[in-house]
Amino acid sequence: MSADRARILAALSAIRLPSGSDIVAAGMVRALTVEGGKVRFVLEIPAGKAAEMTPLRDAARARLEALEGIDEAQIVMTAPVAAAPPPELRARRAEASGPQPLPGVAHVIAVASGKGGVGKSTVAANLAVALAAEGRRVGLLDADVYGPSQPRMMGITGRPSSPDGKTILPLRNHGVTLMSIGLMAAEDEALIWRGPMLMGALQQMLAQVQWGALDILLVDLPPGTGDVQMTLAQKTRLDGAIVVSTPQDVALIDVRKGIAMLRKMGVPILGLVENMSTHVCSKCGHEEHLFGHGGVAAEAKRIGAPLLAEIPLDLGIRLAGDGGAPIVAAQPDSAQARAFRALAARLVGEGVA
Ligand SMILES: Nc1ncnc2c1ncn2[C@@H]1O[C@H](COP(=O)(O)OP(=O)(O)O)[C@@H](O)[C@H]1O
Ligand SMILES: [Mg+2]
Repeated sequence: MSADRARILAALSAIRLPSGSDIVAAGMVRALTVEGGKVRFVLEIPAGKAAEMTPLRDAARARLEALEGIDEAQIVMTAPVAAAPPPELRARRAEASGPQPLPGVAHVIAVASGKGGVGKSTVAANLAVALAAEGRRVGLLDADVYGPSQPRMMGITGRPSSPDGKTILPLRNHGVTLMSIGLMAAEDEALIWRGPMLMGALQQMLAQVQWGALDILLVDLPPGTGDVQMTLAQKTRLDGAIVVSTPQDVALIDVRKGIAMLRKMGVPILGLVENMSTHVCSKCGHEEHLFGHGGVAAEAKRIGAPLLAEIPLDLGIRLAGDGGAPIVAAQPDSAQARAFRALAARLVGEGVA
């Protein structure tokens, strides 16, 4: 061990835990590296103790930065998550425990798609706002852990707080309660969101967020048929899934694979939404089908599920989403917003939202 490492560990040994031990003796200091005047390490904390451990991390940083020759200490806190068991075992365990209802949440609906960029998040955000306008108490969980876009679409930038260090208070805008990894991951203090930890994060967002009493929780899924979809369907009782597709993507194997997986996991397909369905010229009103038309209706018929809505391809929808106020909030009486509101009214009418 270099003299530097020894000096650093000695300094860190002064950081005491409530138990009387210290962070070095307790084995919490991992992956320590020293490069010039820069020290980096991972502080492995017990799950659910982030709020309690933050002052210790800050004290450790202050101590190190006070040492001669050390200019900067970068400390990342992480909580261990059990490694994922093999898929067969996971499936068996899930069967044994079965998907559970979320306490206080009447309905959970996933918004899914075969691939990215088809407008899943746009549909989820607008549908959430439209359901809130119908008088429903609505939560939106951005489960696209790889590319969270709901904070931007819903115009939410703050960070959720956790006064008790155990539960997380979500944020609200446009009448919708939102939780997203995009709201939690700040560079230096964020947990490291990778592999099994992502699944832990999803679980945390489902179970540890104080959603309050909700009539409906919409879950904006990442594209495809990965672990997030599996975890969600295995742990949480879903009332169903809405599958979003563009007309030209619907015949793609991805969409069918996505639907097949949801069905296999026992998630009812509530129906399909054709997004970017028609294009109405904003200058002359001429309507055209840029990506073809009717493909999603045909696919819906093929799989025996209803076509729930056809959402036009429209500049206003994109600008509103990118600007932090979905079109249903920004221009509630526009034809585009009406398409989403009709979808919301239909789900309410059918008793699923
Ligand atoms: N109906 C639409 N008209 C115009 N732009 C849209 C429409 N639906 C989605 N977009 C835009 O397409 C991009 C991808 O949409 P997004 O909802 O993020 O897709 P996904 O969640 O499936 O990846 C976004 O910039 C969004 O604003
Ligand atoms: Mg998305």
